[in-house]
Amino acid sequence: MHAVPASRPVDKAPARVRRMFDQISPRYDLLNHLLSLNSDVLWRQRAAAKLAGARRVLDVCSGTGDLAFEIRRQWGAEVVGVDFSLRMLEVAALKARRRLPAGAVRFQQGDALLLPYRDGVFDACTVAFGIRNVVDTGGGLREMSRVLRRGGRAVILEFTLPENSLLRRGYLLYFGHVLPRVGRMIARAEIDAYRYLPDSVSRWPRPEDLKSLMLASGFTRVDYELVFGGVAAIHVGHKD
Ligand SMILES: C[S@@+](CC[C@H](N)C(=O)[O-])C[C@H]1O[C@@H](n2cnc3c(N)ncnc32)[C@H](O)[C@@H]1O
Repeated sequence: MHAVPASRPVDKAPARVRRMFDQISPRYDLLNHLLSLNSDVLWRQRAAAKLAGARRVLDVCSGTGDLAFEIRRQWGAEVVGVDFSLRMLEVAALKARRRLPAGAVRFQQGDALLLPYRDGVFDACTVAFGIRNVVDTGGGLREMSRVLRRGGRAVILEFTLPENSLLRRGYLLYFGHVLPRVGRMIARAEIDAYRYLPDSVSRWPRPEDLKSLMLASGFTRVDYELVFGGVAAIHVGHKD
């Protein structure tokens, strides 16, 4: 883990996390685009680009569905988005109705720790900014690997702390001070989601440690790349 000044423990109790996302769902997309200066769109494009050839894709912790839509746009794949927050899924379903033919991308309520799908039914599994919120990271990774067919792959897009000390300082300043204030003003949620965000990111495993965890959770090969100056990483886990 990174040695960063995050003394607060991060409470990832599933009921709390679900309530937090239910509460911020009406303003989640706006805040994502605003706080990342719209670069979240590029990050998802980059992650979706790793899915060449996949026909059936499961997007775990799909939220308001932006990665699911991007996968559909790039590859025309059959995409299912699963999330345990009904309110986030309602936003996703509304966007799907406005943008796509019926059934092009489907959303279902479900827990990342108990995915409601049989073993080996997906060519690919994705998760963007989601697995960090799951109380049992290894359990979530094992579920993703379970629902993948042999030869399938999982793509994980997640924040990391930049290794470069100058960049990291700037990032922590932004994440620790600017982001919570703006987030609080706009989200107006009872749970402080934009304080939870920097706290959970600063305690998230480094990319090399996440790779090891993936290898211990059912993936046979794992590669990753740091993107956008190392503020995010994209891991690709193969199930051979
Ligand atoms: C930061 S949002 C990411 C949403 C979307 N993937 C994106 O790129 O914008 C995290 C999502 O993970 C979901 N989530 C967290 N833990 C979960 C779990 N155990 N099972 C299902 N969904 C979960 C939350 O409800 C939330 O919608």
